[in-house]
Amino acid sequence: MSLFWSVFIIVLVLGNIFACWWLIRWTAKPRKGEAAAHETTGHVWDGDLTEYNNPMPRWWLWLFYITIVFGLIYLALYPGLGNFQGLLGWSQYSQYDEEVAAAEARFEPLYARYAEVDIAELAQNDEAMGTAGRLFANNCATCHGSDGRGARGYPNLADADWQWGGSAEAIRHTLINGRQAVMPAFGAALDDSQLQATAAYVYSLNGRNAPERLVAAGREQYQTLCVACHGVEGKGNPALGAPNLTDEVWLYGGSLDTIEQTLLNGRNGQMPAFAETLGEDRVHLVSAYVYRLSGGQEARDELAAR
Ligand code: HEC
Ligand code: HEC
Repeated sequence: MSLFWSVFIIVLVLGNIFACWWLIRWTAKPRKGEAAAHETTGHVWDGDLTEYNNPMPRWWLWLFYITIVFGLIYLALYPGLGNFQGLLGWSQYSQYDEEVAAAEARFEPLYARYAEVDIAELAQNDEAMGTAGRLFANNCATCHGSDGRGARGYPNLADADWQWGGSAEAIRHTLINGRQAVMPAFGAALDDSQLQATAAYVYSLNGRNAPERLVAAGREQYQTLCVACHGVEGKGNPALGAPNLTDEVWLYGGSLDTIEQTLLNGRNGQMPAFAETLGEDRVHLVSAYVYRLSGGQEARDELAAR
């Protein structure tokens, strides 16, 4: 806050408090030259109903004085007068930091204990998963949804389909380092008809019908431009985060239009790194949570057997 506004606020606040004090004193004094007792306000209702103008009772006045003193002490100790920080040096930030530090001190040993347990085993521990669920809600739910089912552009973590791999180690790696997907834009490399054909080929990869002529031309483009990342069969490559194009799971969408958009402009999904924000121990715990969400090893075996 600039000096001007700071002074402005201080003058306004102190001026108001002083004005209150003055007003109380002024109203409490018996008027000079008037019979203090049994004077009326001068208003008359219903012909004969009048009102005494007595000073306020003492105890009532004292309450006002006490609030004024309280206000002044408060403003001396806590921030409230412009840029003056208060004698206690209290701030919302310092209070928040203290509370966080206190919570850390309480939970850190717990996280450290969980960190020694294997992720797959930790995923079976209901108590640990309760804590992990809260970490997930605070750090991951904004993007992946409170149930982990994701949204367009944000992968579903509750299925057994993985871009970067669903083993305990791969999940942990994703959380520690983050992931940056690079699906190049092909708007410059492919003309309109080639783009359409390639999209039609991708569209047909999971068994849907597309015009045969387009699919054949698209297959050729695919073999030159796409196999390096998505593989000859289109099953993807977890090392590059290149998704399987033959299943029915889509990150951005599997309609012809959306596939064309993906090819035209490319896609660069980014998963932030959590090594710093959460620290290794908590990442370990949340990894176990994600592992459990997706059904763990069982679900992966089932998928592999299909
Ligand atoms: C350099 C590696 C690379 C190449 C080459 C590449 N892709 Fe990709 N592709 C990716 C990655 C990585 C993603 C995931 C993007 C993301 O998560 O944001 C992706 C995503 C996609 C998607 C979106 C899938 C979804 O679930 O919405 C489609 C469709 C796709 N690629 C098709 C192709 C086609 C067709 C080609 C060839 C013309 C191609 N890709 C070439 C790496 C590549
Ligand atoms: C700012 C949004 C955002 C936040 C917050 C976020 N993620 Fe992600 N996450 C993403 C995006 C986007 C991707 C997909 C990256 C890509 O396109 O490859 C992703 C990918 C992932 C993957 C890889 C999925 C796969 O199929 O391989 C995992 C696992 C994951 N996130 C877990 C988490 C967890 C656990 C948290 C909380 C600690 C979290 N994410 C927080 C945006 C986010």
